[in-house]
Amino acid sequence: MPCLIDVADEAACSLGDCAAALDAVPFDPVDPESLSHAALWLRRLGNNRDFLGDVLVESLSARHRDEPAQAYGPQVIMLTAPGSSSFLRCAIWPGAGEGVLGASGQESFVYGLPHDHNFSFLTHGYFGPGYWSEFYEYDYDGVTGWAGEAAHLRPMGRHRLESDRIMLYRAHRDVHLQLPADALSVSVNVMHAVPAIRWLDQYTFDVERGTIAANVDCGPSESFLRLAVALGGDEALDLAEHFARRHPSDRLRVTAWDSLAARETDLARRDAIWAVAEGSGSRMVEMEARARRGVIAVPA
Ligand SMILES: [Fe+2]
Repeated sequence: MPCLIDVADEAACSLGDCAAALDAVPFDPVDPESLSHAALWLRRLGNNRDFLGDVLVESLSARHRDEPAQAYGPQVIMLTAPGSSSFLRCAIWPGAGEGVLGASGQESFVYGLPHDHNFSFLTHGYFGPGYWSEFYEYDYDGVTGWAGEAAHLRPMGRHRLESDRIMLYRAHRDVHLQLPADALSVSVNVMHAVPAIRWLDQYTFDVERGTIAANVDCGPSESFLRLAVALGGDEALDLAEHFARRHPSDRLRVTAWDSLAARETDLARRDAIWAVAEGSGSRMVEMEARARRGVIAVPA
């Protein structure tokens, strides 16, 4: 499960000071000195009990005009723009009895969705009793990433992000199934940001079966490729054919095959595309292709 980082410090700092400290020493979660530095400044930011309220009031009064661009939902507030190695954000966790959970559904707040992360991050229980997690660990290098593949999850117990606690979630290792906090809670995160992140896999899991449920981090390349192929230009089709057979990312290879197959309304021809994909030399692509062929009902 995530590592408890024991940082005792009474000092408080501003958001700007914390951001500047993280800029001065790049955040590398596998480097003990860098990790201690980031945790110390997260502790100091956490000791500042006013900064987040100030950010919220400022954001509301400015109608979000200057808020850093982000790819998250309204549950997440970006505190700094992504830098060369990290950024700061906070996440709001509705309590179990709150109307917003009934209105929007727990899944809108990532509750009940077992997942790992394709990035490491430090998290601090800034406000409230903290969300609950059922934790698991798995061996990322031991899977290829197809839906239904055994992930050999190791249960690590049920815990919550206690108030004022700092923990390190390790990329591609810690899996959690989050459950609603007992009351509204807020966590503040130092997120490890690397340029390659969109090419790193993030999975959801079926913890009952102990398998990978889906490969969920979809970068802009996937969206652009799907759109270009759907528009049907010759260059887009050539590029999709090339990516489908040779791209180093298995995830993008599956997307390329998906894009090409989606153009075929004839089920036999669609199945033939997936048959080629199945024999294309990647275990992950093979298994995804096999699953898609399994749901194509080719007329006899
Ligand atoms: Fe998570």
